[in-house]
Amino acid sequence: MSAQMAHVDADVENEENAGLACQSIMSLEQRGFVKGDLNKLKEAGYHTIEAIAFATRKELIAVKGISEQKAERLQTEAYKLCPMGFTTASEMHARRADMVQIRTGSQALDQLLGGGIETGSITELFGEYRTGKSQICHSLAVICQLPIDMGGAEGKCMWIDTENTFRPERIVAAAQRFGMDPSSVLENVAIARCYNSEHQFHLSVAAAAMMSESRYALLIVDSATGLFRADYNGRGELANRQMALGRFMRQLMKLADQFGIAVVITNQVVSQVDGGAMFQADAKKPIGGHIVAHASTTRLGLRKGKGENRVCKVHQSPCLAEGEATFSITTTGIEDGKDN
Ligand SMILES: Nc1ncnc2c1ncn2[C@@H]1O[C@H](COP(=O)(O)OP(=O)(O)OP(=O)(O)O)[C@@H](O)[C@H]1O
Ligand SMILES: [Mg+2]
Repeated sequence: MSAQMAHVDADVENEENAGLACQSIMSLEQRGFVKGDLNKLKEAGYHTIEAIAFATRKELIAVKGISEQKAERLQTEAYKLCPMGFTTASEMHARRADMVQIRTGSQALDQLLGGGIETGSITELFGEYRTGKSQICHSLAVICQLPIDMGGAEGKCMWIDTENTFRPERIVAAAQRFGMDPSSVLENVAIARCYNSEHQFHLSVAAAAMMSESRYALLIVDSATGLFRADYNGRGELANRQMALGRFMRQLMKLADQFGIAVVITNQVVSQVDGGAMFQADAKKPIGGHIVAHASTTRLGLRKGKGENRVCKVHQSPCLAEGEATFSITTTGIEDGKDN
């Protein structure tokens, strides 16, 4: 779907709001579904018709009050209302040309990313501590609110903070850099401090409800993996951890698809404990293995450069070359690299 964003305080419940890709599930009432059932689906996290269309029948039946027949009828209606079949590559090409990208604050980095952070998919920032992961997130939280022709996506930002590293002061400083009113920029960042991996999943479900009511452009999860690592720390718990992490990542993919938002997650790197790591110069790997790697469309590795400079390398992307760019962390956010 197109990620063309309407104005920041657009209200999705307002039917006159043209061009919205997400249709409220309540509109199914006109197609013969009972309000009670629709409310139960909402409680279970299905707020849009897209959410129904993307769900399997098994998932729908798991919702209280939804029988096999009702689930089938829901899917039939949802498939009619959402384009789920084949399209031509030229149509897709035209849609991608319309795709909104969120600039980072550094031209060199934007150039590396082909314009900025993509909406409609997940971008992962991984790297060691102090490499600038959280700083990039702060810049994006502000820039996403700018008009599209200024490099933004005209939407709000939602932030799941698992490490207590969100700092409103950094938002204010970045807002001032772009001549924006700091208090309204702060109002447009919804922030949740998150305490454990189950809470993190619940917040991602609650995110769908908020996104169906207001125009969000960006969801940040800083960090996406830390709490899963803390909650499942035994060796024997690896399979359970990956399963829980997979469920969370799938939820993020659904949010990116349904609402056309950019999802940005951060990830730490750890030394590999096995597999001949001691013979490799750079044996540090991002946490989460294949589960996180496959869910993320774009993976960016960050490392320290000279002084305040940092280097970003494209590690995985369906359309970007594996290049590098240097940026710097300044008092007002992310900028181009400085000559040292
Ligand atoms: N106000 C500021 N002005 C300039 N640089 C700053 C400012 N605040 C933080 N920094 C720099 O940002 C860097 C930290 O970056 P960041 O917090 O993004 O790291 P991170 O990759 O998220 O690390 P972690 O894995 O520990 O979360 C530090 O080097 C710090 O000096
Ligand atoms: Mg951080």
